[in-house]
Amino acid sequence: TNTCSVESSVTIHDKSFRLFLSEDELQQSIARLGQQLTDDYRDRNPIFVVVLNGAFIFAADLLKCVETPCEVTFVKVASYQATQSTGEVEEILGLEEDLHNRHVVIVEDIVDTGLTMSALLDSVREMRPASVEVATLLLKPKALKRPLSIRYVGNEIENRFVVGFGLDYDGLGRNLRHLYQLSTQ
Ligand code: XMP
Ligand code: MG
Repeated sequence: TNTCSVESSVTIHDKSFRLFLSEDELQQSIARLGQQLTDDYRDRNPIFVVVLNGAFIFAADLLKCVETPCEVTFVKVASYQATQSTGEVEEILGLEEDLHNRHVVIVEDIVDTGLTMSALLDSVREMRPASVEVATLLLKPKALKRPLSIRYVGNEIENRFVVGFGLDYDGLGRNLRHLYQLSTQ
């Protein structure tokens, strides 16, 4: 129960976006994922590796639904320019935690082509964790360029650009309470 308005559309720069998934709908997926993670990682002291910047809101809400002791750390990866994946995965920054023998869950906002996630999985696996899984708020199955097994998926969506709930268009829109989808592409 908040008093913020629900905008049915937003404009960022030259592009217009339509309301796609409301905060309530997203929270239902997040609660389901939190329950699954709680069941799967009970007494295993998992470490959640949150991918900044996009996953910050998802991670905050998800971790409040994880009801077993856990640790949280953050990494930064940059590969996306405006609304097109560059396919170039830049450096993975800040992965300094020792993940050896740990149960690792990577927390991401969206898996699109999957290139970012496979690079990140490679880096994490080099540290020889006890296990590694991925929790993503959003997955675009039709955009995947290589097979990736993602155990925890909030919502599968069409291959269309989205903003809000942490996700940005050119740095803007992360603060939007709901998820919005590009109207025309
Ligand atoms: P790939 O293609 O490597 O992309 O799976 C993953 C990263 O790109 C960003 N991304 C998006 N950001 N709306 C966004 O605001 C989108 O529709 C979108 N698709 C991909 C995202 O940061 C993710 O980490
Ligand atoms: Mg991201």
